[in-house]
Amino acid sequence: MGVRGKAMTVVGKNIPHDSARGHVTGESIYVDDVPFARNELLVDFFWSSVAHGRIRSLDTTAACGVPGVVALYTYADLAHNLFGPIIKDEILLAEDVVTFIGQPIVVIAAETREALRRAKAAIKIDIEKLEPVFTIDEARRRKQFIGPTRHIARGDVNAAFASAENILQGTWRNAGQDHFYLESQAAIAYPGEFDAISVLSSTQNPSEVQEVIAHVLGLPINKVVVTTKRMGGAFGGKECQATHPAAIAALVAHKTKRPARVAYNKDDDMRVTGGRHPFQNDYKVAFTNDGLITGLQVDLYSDGGAFADLSTAVMGRAMTHVDNAYFIPNVQINGTVCRTTLPPNTAFRGFGGPQGVATIENIVEEIACYLKRDAVEIRMKNCYGVDDRNITPYGQTVKNNLLPRLFAETIERGEYQKRRQAVTEFNAQSKTHLRGLACTAVKFGISFNTKFLNQANALVNVYLDGSVQVSTGATEMGQGVNTKIRQLVADEFGIDIDMVMLMPTSTEKNNNTSATAASSGADLNGSAAVDACRKIKARLAEVDRGRNLPWRELVQAAYRDRVSLGDRGFYSTQGIDWDVDKGCGTPFLYFTQGCGISEVEIDRFTGMMRILRSDVLMDIGKSINPGIDRGQMTGAFVQGVGWLTTEELRRTPEGDLLTHSPTTYKIPNIQDLPEIFNVDWIENDANTVNIRSSKAVGEPPLLLGISVFMAVKNALSYVSNGAIPKIDAPATGEEILMRLTAYRHKPTFVSS
Ligand code: MOS
Repeated sequence: MGVRGKAMTVVGKNIPHDSARGHVTGESIYVDDVPFARNELLVDFFWSSVAHGRIRSLDTTAACGVPGVVALYTYADLAHNLFGPIIKDEILLAEDVVTFIGQPIVVIAAETREALRRAKAAIKIDIEKLEPVFTIDEARRRKQFIGPTRHIARGDVNAAFASAENILQGTWRNAGQDHFYLESQAAIAYPGEFDAISVLSSTQNPSEVQEVIAHVLGLPINKVVVTTKRMGGAFGGKECQATHPAAIAALVAHKTKRPARVAYNKDDDMRVTGGRHPFQNDYKVAFTNDGLITGLQVDLYSDGGAFADLSTAVMGRAMTHVDNAYFIPNVQINGTVCRTTLPPNTAFRGFGGPQGVATIENIVEEIACYLKRDAVEIRMKNCYGVDDRNITPYGQTVKNNLLPRLFAETIERGEYQKRRQAVTEFNAQSKTHLRGLACTAVKFGISFNTKFLNQANALVNVYLDGSVQVSTGATEMGQGVNTKIRQLVADEFGIDIDMVMLMPTSTEKNNNTSATAASSGADLNGSAAVDACRKIKARLAEVDRGRNLPWRELVQAAYRDRVSLGDRGFYSTQGIDWDVDKGCGTPFLYFTQGCGISEVEIDRFTGMMRILRSDVLMDIGKSINPGIDRGQMTGAFVQGVGWLTTEELRRTPEGDLLTHSPTTYKIPNIQDLPEIFNVDWIENDANTVNIRSSKAVGEPPLLLGISVFMAVKNALSYVSNGAIPKIDAPATGEEILMRLTAYRHKPTFVSS
């Protein structure tokens, strides 16, 4: 209830995104839109053009002499070079060894871009080449791993295999994905008095940027302020890897006492930053003749790249999502991160969840193929129950499980059975095209697997005209978190939404914040903001003494009574726990669930695939902002489809990325959308554990893009002469064509 007993009215409404107008008119300010300060320097870095090597000599004399060059720095200019969010194995600037192409070696500060370019060309370096490692297989052969192999186990898989009616095994691989945020990595650092430094950063994680800058410069954390107004997309790519440009800019500002700006161009950004982890997963599954899964062993291997970054946490989420929607009584899941000589892979929307979920969805599709049954039947048979068969391999009970209902409703709304028949008939009759249909599910755990990250603080200030400023640790990357928090605060005070303004995220106002990540930005920070509002409201209620003063008068009365009109809120998620060594616990506060049906059509001569129709039906609790949530569902689904079908990172044999621009790296565009695209959610008021009974929605719908990939696999099953069609991700047109060709020439062809 509002202070004056006014009903809550804004939550649940389609309040336009904060940036809706600003992005279109150009009024929205991004880091590199900030006008240049007097004396400001441009900063770039000279990087390794060798994937693995030892630096024999480095000569920057000529580069120093380039007109307009102000300074060059190496690791020797840093107080500390070593850092890392989980495992401290990362160096900001290469020392004697380089471990990926794009690794920064020398920081250059100059007056002009031309001077930067010429300085880079003038740096003389001699690198002795060492053996690079570009594949998971090679890393496994060399036992080059990041962190220990982790395990989640339940029951007795060996007994399940020993008594199995059927066993299938194989390997499923997915490639990486570039974040392709429209705003590249960028930061500006401003030197302050007495070594203070202030940084504008396009980051999901201002506190981490602050901490790393303080660390590498040898300053106490309180000397550094990091501010983030908004990002032009992030998708996980600015959770850790925004730190490097910010730290480099800060180094220059700190040393030269001049403002310093770093803004990667798109090509450089794609080459030097990591992306989604490629995975290679060996599986063995036992199941009955009826298609009931009785045992599953999966050995997950990811390509972590050269440094740990968040790879071990990403693997943790992959491992806790291998079960997805399915109850599997006997399970053994092992997860190993491989170290290669490629840019460190990092957080990417879904954070390992998509790789885990795609693995089991692929397995279920193969079981259906093998048993000559419809995959949807196998899925529903193995689906988590509502009252029983509802405990995950890691011991968490799936509460308020809506998956059986979501399957049933999606199948009905999507006219699955009718279309299955139509697809079968089409494939029997068409000589030119091939269709496929698949229904997959998502059960995405909400909360950071790392317990301590599940906390947030907020600062709420009420001014004398009744207007309100809110600051939280949440960063706006286009997902609409600021709009949702505005709605929550407006309702809490019972005031008009226009009275509430979200301020830039700043470490000065909110300390030790977690990254805006794991889909939990609105959950955590919205809850913290509401906590602050409630403290203020409690004091205002005493001032009001039942007089029912209008908001503005009440605020002024409180001020005259010398009652504080600002407060700090705090929130920490209760009831979650995770033992990473034992692989068990209750890591998630709740699950966001959904189902998706996709139908694809493939040109039998070219392999070109288009999506005829997709139906996405989810449980997102009570939506705080339906328009924003619909946008998240639509965009995430399409991003998932891109990962699995068209986006392909190609490298030279030396490991240099060739696909570093939109001309060679194919993200989905409007023509790649499903021709019919139904996005909807069911009513669910029961998620009372979360703010206003809402559910997180940023990542989960991405995993329904897997339905498109499985529809491709399903299409291939119509021409594979009875064999299980094997296809890895991405299922590009070329990849599909190669499968089709193989089936034509070798009737019983099965590749691994
Ligand atoms: Mo997100 S992939 O948890 O930044």
